[in-house]
Amino acid sequence: MKIGVCSDHAGFELKCRLIGHLRDMGYEPVDFGTFSPESIDYPDVAHPLAAAVEKGDPAIGIAMCGTGNGMAITLNKHQKIRAGLAWDRKIGELVKRHNNANILVLPARFISPEEAMATADAWLDTEFEGGRHQRRIDKIPL
Ligand code: RB5
Repeated sequence: MKIGVCSDHAGFELKCRLIGHLRDMGYEPVDFGTFSPESIDYPDVAHPLAAAVEKGDPAIGIAMCGTGNGMAITLNKHQKIRAGLAWDRKIGELVKRHNNANILVLPARFISPEEAMATADAWLDTEFEGGRHQRRIDKIPL
């Protein structure tokens, strides 16, 4: 299964580690950048990832910046994107179970690599619950 990944400079190191982890888990990471620790503007990588996920190839993604907020704010401008910020296993689980996030956002400067992998694993391993949560998601678009 393909997973799009992107980060700015603040998330670059974590992105490199996460790509290795995803490969180890049998996923096929698709790297949308950034490709070095040089400073960049997070919308420059967030918009291409969101556009690809909106088209369904790849169907899901993981984005990282310092706090996660710049990525989440940018990604959620796209109508078909539900980008959810998570920083531990439980929130990683709930952002799928309740919000059906199609992009997971990690706060690279405020999470250890181990916590980041555990959060991503929880999000990937959890099923959306549907039901009342689907009704709520249906009310999100403007
Ligand atoms: C970069 O310094 C930082 O502003 C960015 O990674 C992110 O935290 C923005 O929301």
